[in-house]
Amino acid sequence: MPPARTVPEHGGDIYGIARELGRSPGELVDFSASINPLGFPPGLPAALAAALAEVVHYPDRRCTALREELAAYHGLSPDEILVGNGSTELIYLLPRTLRPRRGLIVAPAFSEYHKALQAAGAEVHWHYTAAADGFTLREPVDPGEADLVFLANPASPSGALLSLQEMVAAVRRLSARGARVVLDEAFIDFVEEASLKTELARMPRLMILRSFTKFFGLPGIRLGYLLAAPELVARLAAVQEPWSVSTLAQAAGRACLKDRDFMVRSREMVRAARERFFRQLSALPGLQVFPSAANYLLLRITTPGLTAADLRRRLLLRGLIIRDASNFPGLDEGFVRVAVRRPEDNDRLAAALAEVLREAAA
Ligand SMILES: Cc1ncc(COP(=O)(O)O)c(C=O)c1O
Repeated sequence: MPPARTVPEHGGDIYGIARELGRSPGELVDFSASINPLGFPPGLPAALAAALAEVVHYPDRRCTALREELAAYHGLSPDEILVGNGSTELIYLLPRTLRPRRGLIVAPAFSEYHKALQAAGAEVHWHYTAAADGFTLREPVDPGEADLVFLANPASPSGALLSLQEMVAAVRRLSARGARVVLDEAFIDFVEEASLKTELARMPRLMILRSFTKFFGLPGIRLGYLLAAPELVARLAAVQEPWSVSTLAQAAGRACLKDRDFMVRSREMVRAARERFFRQLSALPGLQVFPSAANYLLLRITTPGLTAADLRRRLLLRGLIIRDASNFPGLDEGFVRVAVRRPEDNDRLAAALAEVLREAAA
């Protein structure tokens, strides 16, 4: 068996895992990072090749063309948009600039919110959603004394989705209590109609994080952005490190936004693949599958004695990487997360899972 490692902090460490197993990354199928199974839009290589001549200059530090095109795409104004080196850069920039005394995280959630709040010296509190509610926000979030609240829609790692109306109500309640809200919509492109971007002008305390990583299949490019009130965007832009978004990343983003056909195909393909994968996995004894609106599924192992770490190790032996989700605050060693990939990959994982669960139950 591969050595038991401490639980990885993130999925997608394909290079580290391949090295550890003495295999090449190409021999592994990665279900631990949730990236569009169609990959990136087909026009991307040509757009990057064309932009290469520009790398002799510093990038446009204001990302002017990309912001204009994002504004047109979302029906917003360019001064409501700040581009970053992945949304992760902006997750850190926000608390560092806003200096909250106390942050609240709706959990389970992406681990960087916690680290970013801590790095900015904020006290961190948690609001836990429950497995029994499918990790949706059943209870209104009480911000208490928190001045900055992080939450995600669809939620990560569960994939639970709040409707636009539910999210409007949640943000209104938090704003009325004086809190600013960072709404992470890293996976909303799969259900764009649920984005709170349409409410931005009416919600001055709302900040929306978006990412090119997941939907456009670009984790290695590093490109994300924030949608927020122009005054806040200007304040953040003034302290953001210069040139954090490369010329190639800006060109990649512009190429992605041009390909509407890719967007439609991605939504349809992922929805169909997820529904099929959900049915396959739900049929396995010893596993509970949570409903998801995104390109991943959260699973709870109900087979006695089998932990997330065991399951991950046994699947690694078969060349399949899944995310041990036990280190998300609010989850335990019974949880794993798997990406929705192409049906042939999903079939392979479903068959391997069936085998491992059968062995473990024997
Ligand atoms: C919920 C969520 N938000 C944000 C990110 C960061 O994405 P990026 O920095 O690649 O835009 C991730 C990455 O895993 C994520 O899962």
